[in-house]
Amino acid sequence: MTDGPKYGFDTLQIHAGARPDPATGARQTPIYQSTAFVFRDAEHAAALFNLQEVGYIYSRLTNPTVAVLQERIATLEGGAGAVCCSSGHAAQIMALFPLMAPGLNVVVSTRLYGGSVTQFSQTIKRFGWEATFVDFDDLDAVKAAIDDNTRAVFCEAIANPGGYITDLDAIAAIADAAEIPMIVDNTSATPYLCRPIEHGATLVVHSTTKYLTGNGTVTGGCVVDSGTFDWSANDKFPSLSQPEPAYHGLKFHETFGPLAFTFHGIAIGLRDLGMTMNPQAAHYTLMGTETLSLRMDRHVENAIKIAEWLEKDDRVDYVTYAGLKSSPYYDRVAKICPRGAGGLFTFAVKGGYDACVKLVNALEIFSHVANLGDARSLIIHSASTTHRQLTAEQQRAAGAAPEVVRVSIGIEDADDLIADLDQALSKAAS
Ligand SMILES: Cc1ncc(COP(=O)(O)O)c(C=O)c1O
Repeated sequence: MTDGPKYGFDTLQIHAGARPDPATGARQTPIYQSTAFVFRDAEHAAALFNLQEVGYIYSRLTNPTVAVLQERIATLEGGAGAVCCSSGHAAQIMALFPLMAPGLNVVVSTRLYGGSVTQFSQTIKRFGWEATFVDFDDLDAVKAAIDDNTRAVFCEAIANPGGYITDLDAIAAIADAAEIPMIVDNTSATPYLCRPIEHGATLVVHSTTKYLTGNGTVTGGCVVDSGTFDWSANDKFPSLSQPEPAYHGLKFHETFGPLAFTFHGIAIGLRDLGMTMNPQAAHYTLMGTETLSLRMDRHVENAIKIAEWLEKDDRVDYVTYAGLKSSPYYDRVAKICPRGAGGLFTFAVKGGYDACVKLVNALEIFSHVANLGDARSLIIHSASTTHRQLTAEQQRAAGAAPEVVRVSIGIEDADDLIADLDQALSKAAS
């Protein structure tokens, strides 16, 4: 199917990128479980390696099943192209890789998934890259943190774990003025709830492990390129604007225009970093995308009911769901994610750390796991798990204080989930 604005989201989430298999007529996208693809002849092989013709060479770079998923996610996000990779964390490195070099930095939000805080504050230092953490609600602080060596700003549309919403338009205006890209992690929102490119994002990254797959089966990631950034406007992005020594002097932006970042991601990123998505994972995620809008509507409906119930409960101190009228982020929902604030939030249990531990042990329907975005309801005590490597100050800044638990509300019966929380809160209070 050719994609286009004439089709609605529900149609595109099933059809974008896919067409009946030309060899067999198979209606569902086959899992092309093949490492390599036969060249028609030597000239064909040379054209593929020269990027003069688009096709399949070797599955570390491109694979037909993965390509369908790339096109589908790019279409749902309104991007020009996308590169899938092995995990959400791989996608974050893949997004930064063409932009960064030793001595350069990225300005990132303090409200990020704990693993991302560790990746940015510790691990990227090994590449000689730096991250400056700032409260993205403080726009002056974001502006002040950007210097001549900054090559991107990075935030989550709906932040894990707190469910806080970033004012993407305001951050994009700052990034535009500094002539650097805004990268948005859209994992918790998905393109059904939020389309960051419409709010000025240059790149959108995903952990496809979560809602896009939606059933907790495979890890994966994706970088979507808006295709709108002028990489040649200044000399900040030589990998894209200047002859790239890692690809015999090819100028990616001059050659591929709006697809420069996508081609670079495949030809250099996947080729040399090797963080490839396998076709089985792409298959599971393609199955997931087919029902994305239906699931997200139900996640939101359930999350509102449960957050409202928790907010009124005496055993609970506070609830951070942005879909609650009491949330300081409530007004941003209509602007940034008009279909709802997602299914992810935290709540503080009276009795602190010990009560949180009792609560997670007592729940019967909610699973205590380090994941989110599953059809099943999930819970985790972030301070003792996902955010464990962070300092107390970083934990609080990220919304993962010791007295809070994070829930990822599933698509079960909301009344059953409330009953489960009710019995577990009673045990936690005893
Ligand atoms: C918002 C967000 N971004 C990125 C990641 C990393 O994704 P992955 O686990 O697929 O590497 C996660 C994982 O929980 C996440 O919640």
